[in-house]
Amino acid sequence: MTAARRIVLSSDHAAIPLRQAIAAHVAAKGWEVVDIGPTTTESTDYPRHGEAAARRVASGDCALGIVVCGTGQGIMMAANKVKGVRCGVCADTFSARMIRAHNDANMLALGARVVGEGLALEIVDAFLTAEFEGGRHATRVAMIKALEA
Ligand code: RB5
Repeated sequence: MTAARRIVLSSDHAAIPLRQAIAAHVAAKGWEVVDIGPTTTESTDYPRHGEAAARRVASGDCALGIVVCGTGQGIMMAANKVKGVRCGVCADTFSARMIRAHNDANMLALGARVVGEGLALEIVDAFLTAEFEGGRHATRVAMIKALEA
């Protein structure tokens, strides 16, 4: 399968069951899932896992990424430090659609202590099925990219 249908998943210890549910869900939708763990519930540091997933996306190995921690906030902040990554944390489907449509986000962050599994999977679907609209939004995304230069 090409990178265009490959998605990387990562989390910290606070979000392993939700990450595994997302992995099964997106695999059933036809995505090749690269689940980079962790696999134990031992306390671990979300910045490491956010960075590792973000590097898979920034390198082009994976088209998209989903990262999960307790709130989604910390792992999102870490992912966004990797050049080329635009990651938004979402707790609703509208935002999940819009971060792709308007912001060309290539990563989604979720909070396992914020949203239940049912809503999380709907958010994932909204993120995966939305498309970047380009036009004036491309100009603004280019401005974001310029901040990285
Ligand atoms: C871990 O306790 C928690 O801080 C982490 O999962 C996340 O919520 C950080 O943003």
